[in-house]
Amino acid sequence: MKGFTTRALHTHYKPNKEDGAIIPPLHLSTTFQFGNKGGFDYSRTVNPTRVILEKTLAELDNNLYGFAYSSGSAALANVVALLGRGEKILFSTDAYGGTYRFIAQVAGNQGVGYEIADLTNHKKTEESLKRGNIKIIWAETPTNPLMKVVDIVGLAKLSKQFGALLVIDNTFSSPFIQQPADLGADMVVYSTTKYVNGHSDAIGGALTTSNKDVYIKLKFLQNAIGAILSPFDSWLTLRGLRTLELRMKRHCDNAEKIANFLSKHKKIKKVFYPGLFTGEQKEIVDRQMKRPGSMMSIEIKEKYDVKKFLSSLVYFPLAESLGGVESLIDHPASMTHASIPKKEREKIGLSDGLLRVSVGIENVEDLIGDLKQALDKT
Ligand SMILES: Cc1ncc(COP(=O)(O)O)c(C=O)c1O
Repeated sequence: MKGFTTRALHTHYKPNKEDGAIIPPLHLSTTFQFGNKGGFDYSRTVNPTRVILEKTLAELDNNLYGFAYSSGSAALANVVALLGRGEKILFSTDAYGGTYRFIAQVAGNQGVGYEIADLTNHKKTEESLKRGNIKIIWAETPTNPLMKVVDIVGLAKLSKQFGALLVIDNTFSSPFIQQPADLGADMVVYSTTKYVNGHSDAIGGALTTSNKDVYIKLKFLQNAIGAILSPFDSWLTLRGLRTLELRMKRHCDNAEKIANFLSKHKKIKKVFYPGLFTGEQKEIVDRQMKRPGSMMSIEIKEKYDVKKFLSSLVYFPLAESLGGVESLIDHPASMTHASIPKKEREKIGLSDGLLRVSVGIENVEDLIGDLKQALDKT
């Protein structure tokens, strides 16, 4: 099989025969003359730039079909729209806060049922499935923000046994690090806002699948719901994909060194990073992730001042989101996960002192130096 970047660049776009253009075209046209060769009619339904992105993403996931949406949240909304009244979706205790918000407060109000379980725990997952009528399992791995990894092969077996479709949210890993379809996932979803685009300049979402029935239903829903990725954002995301492999390698190199530094620092209580896991969690990382990624969470020991640490950082702005070339730091309890009630957060080990770090591709000595000076002041 061809290398990752070759597949990203050369599978679904060849230099244009008429003008020789090397990069994919940006088609802003909302409508197309009837009878054209590509069968294009109206851009909500199908757009040439979006199609190149959708096919490229499917190619990189080893899937047959792809969809690009206006956000990762829109990808979730389209998946949940596959469910009828009373049918249930099972998702993880420490899912992204917005996943919880949409399922519990939007879909839940419209008659879709849900179950929440620790999907890293086979027995607990099975107990939920036994309660019945679960048609979709939605798993993020690594999870957000505790970076726990879910055994995709094990979950795929369970989902088949109970007649559910398995969706893996691969946002934190990207197609370069993890290939859920090869491990049995029926659908792979992304907030492309993160690593896939990688430049913090386009909100987007995507889904890939090889299941033809699911594809036909989702194709209908994508057009009916209309939460599609714009041509310009599709084009930016295609540009991001061209360097995904390069970026991911550098992200991981930097993160491994930073996790190592932080785990030895006397003011740090704990580092949650797949590259530092031991036991069963390490076995899962080794089996299904090419590299441990560049997301980690840290806890500073209680006697030190977290606010002082955050305000002393220079290269880690306090900001939501992740997966961009620039490093960021997030305080989940007050930011990304604030929509999860405090009691629920505490149950899953998401303490108020937890910080989530998205390690960028800057010079790693600069990043470590910055963390060190901020910890010294803390
Ligand atoms: C794992 C994960 N999935 C989905 C989403 C939602 O994506 P978006 O913000 O593009 O709607 C996010 C957002 O942070 C996320 O972290």
